[in-house]
Amino acid sequence: MRKHALITIALFLSGCATGPEPKSEVKEPEVPAKPAGAVVEIKAPLGLPPVPLPANNPPTVDTIALGRRLYFDTRLSKDGTVSCASCHDPKTGFQDIRPGSVGVGGKLGGRNAPTVLNSAYNTVQFWDGRSPSLEDQAGGPIENPIEMAHTAPELVKNLNADSSYRGDFERAFGPGPVTFQKVRMAIASFERTVLSGNSAFDKWKYGRDAKAMTPEAIRGFNVFNDPKKGNCAVCHTVEKEYALFTDNKFHNLGVGLDSKGELKDLGRFKITNQEADKGAFKTPTLRNIATTAPYMHDGSLKTLREVVDFYVGGGNSNPYRDKEIKSLDHLSKQERADLVAFMEALNGEVPPGTGAPEGR
Ligand code: HEC
Ligand code: HEC
Repeated sequence: MRKHALITIALFLSGCATGPEPKSEVKEPEVPAKPAGAVVEIKAPLGLPPVPLPANNPPTVDTIALGRRLYFDTRLSKDGTVSCASCHDPKTGFQDIRPGSVGVGGKLGGRNAPTVLNSAYNTVQFWDGRSPSLEDQAGGPIENPIEMAHTAPELVKNLNADSSYRGDFERAFGPGPVTFQKVRMAIASFERTVLSGNSAFDKWKYGRDAKAMTPEAIRGFNVFNDPKKGNCAVCHTVEKEYALFTDNKFHNLGVGLDSKGELKDLGRFKITNQEADKGAFKTPTLRNIATTAPYMHDGSLKTLREVVDFYVGGGNSNPYRDKEIKSLDHLSKQERADLVAFMEALNGEVPPGTGAPEGR
């Protein structure tokens, strides 16, 4: 317990509430868990590439259903008050409307919760990329002292003592006890179904429906794409066949400077120790962006208009600012408004079966 208390203090001091999670003390079984049932296809909506699936955790009906149950269950937190959905709420684009997330006991985190939508496509997870996969990531918040503040052994003990959960785990993974590994695998499989595509933009660009987007949004897309205009797509990438709106790389825009102009959160640097990574954060997807305010890793910008103004000003000057971020003074008033209209055309259809399970 003492160790946890110390970590909590250290995280508060660093101003990065969701820094590295304490290493789990749970011993993973030597034989890795394997989903038991038939593998299901996760169909990517229009505008998204096929969902990448790990060979050792192919999705099944039962692992997805179990992951959904776990995702919405507040029992995953120590005091039964916080679920994954508390901070990644389907009603607000699977993210958090609060700039910093609030965990168990009202503890405040320093970073804005990113959306879980399309996290299946992230090559690394978290703003600083410190986690390699959804399976790995899912354990983090459960044991993070200021998020769910649970411990893996306690959680696993509770789930094992619940006959309804035991049944769900046996259907999903075959006979045997609940393990933390199975918890993480099931949640990851559910998350792979939480997709956003088939937006007005996708119908226009990939469905070739010329009327699907408004003239403002079409002009906005051209500003977004044109290296001489907005130059946004250099990082928020758009491919010929699909668009993820992220290069999965890390860039410094100068978000989060204190009154002395110093970076409050060193971001990617804390993971790599590379000077060039100071204040760099992962490019977030822009899908459903109109529903996922506030913006940026610290939730410091409230509207898409504020975001556009921030880019027009060339971000915030600091020694590590990305060379692609420069003043966009040349954009007309109309072009700035068009950019916002384009981003509003990225609201997608989220597949059914991704909300809170009924009857629980
Ligand atoms: C107390 C609020 C809170 C809870 C509870 C929480 N998260 Fe998060 N989540 C965050 C924050 C904040 C971040 C960003 C942290 C960072 O990057 O350092 C995050 C990041 C993530 C990411 C990475 C997304 C990306 O684009 O990199 C995923 C995936 C995720 N959470 C899933 C989950 C799952 C699954 C659960 C439940 C087991 C959960 N979260 C519980 C606040 C929360
Ligand atoms: C150099 C790469 C780069 C360029 C160019 C770029 N972005 Fe970004 N964008 C990022 C990164 C990185 C972040 C997160 C920064 C942070 O929080 O510190 C971000 C954040 C955002 C966000 C907030 C997303 C969220 O979920 O909080 C929006 C909206 C956005 N960018 C739109 C744009 C638009 C519009 C343009 C063009 C005018 C643009 N970006 C150009 C890399 C880039």
